[in-house]
Amino acid sequence: MTTPVRRTSDWMAVVRAEESAQPDAYHADPCAEVFVTEEARQVVAAFKPFHPPSEVVPVRARLGDKTLLSSGVRQAVSLGAGSDCRPYRLPLEPSFAYYEVDLPGQLSGKAEALAQAGYHPRCRVVCVETDLRSPPPSVAPGFDASMATHWIVEGVFYYLTSAEAESVIGWITRQSGPGSWLTFDIPHPRFFTDPDHQPFLREMAAHGVPFAGAVEDPVAWLAPHGWTAEAATHRDIAEGRCPWLAPLPPRLRGRKQDIWLTRAHR
Ligand SMILES: C[S@@+](CC[C@H](N)C(=O)[O-])C[C@H]1O[C@@H](n2cnc3c(N)ncnc32)[C@H](O)[C@@H]1O
Repeated sequence: MTTPVRRTSDWMAVVRAEESAQPDAYHADPCAEVFVTEEARQVVAAFKPFHPPSEVVPVRARLGDKTLLSSGVRQAVSLGAGSDCRPYRLPLEPSFAYYEVDLPGQLSGKAEALAQAGYHPRCRVVCVETDLRSPPPSVAPGFDASMATHWIVEGVFYYLTSAEAESVIGWITRQSGPGSWLTFDIPHPRFFTDPDHQPFLREMAAHGVPFAGAVEDPVAWLAPHGWTAEAATHRDIAEGRCPWLAPLPPRLRGRKQDIWLTRAHR
């Protein structure tokens, strides 16, 4: 049996694999299938009646890909990387440095599983085991904090309190050279007060992975840290109010989520 946090990452892979199989996939991740185990499918099936906000997963993945490929950076850090396979599926230069950060044990066996399926890293991948609630001063030995970096924080702020998220943003900012980018998703406080979400929130807590994080306004949150941000909720995107993300297909806008998608630059 895997740990509860490990399961959230395999769960994301199932969602990405299902979207990838759509003829008009909003986001395609061929590597996701590698992590679609029977156990992962069972977790997804068990949570389905509680309506998890899975619509957000392909949207943040597409935003992250688009930002990374257009940013011109030569290093990226994926916090809470889980089954994120960007170094294995995106056309990154061999000299590109991609840091995958996650809790101890979360990334073990990942490279081997991908290799067995024929996926090999296109660039340099460095795995870092750390708890973001008490990270070391630097991402890793060799990480160049003076360089422009793309920070990818997908599906992670949900599990951090406001104080922990604030501390993570400070940690990121201290290690971000000029020209850095940051993309992430985080619930709006409305997500927690919406009566429709209470059964799902209770279920997550009961399984040891309570949702904790929310922010009223990501743009205002990031500004004192020197980031210029753009943010739209999934609801905004679903209702056509986000010019910087492609319109969603009907299956991804059937339920509208009060969850922010944010990209920021400094
Ligand atoms: C929902 S998964 C998202 C995985 C991946 N980013 C994606 O979008 O597919 C959440 C990930 O965040 C990691 N995580 C949660 N809390 C963390 C913490 N305090 N420090 C480091 N990683 C954490 C989990 O281990 C898990 O891999």
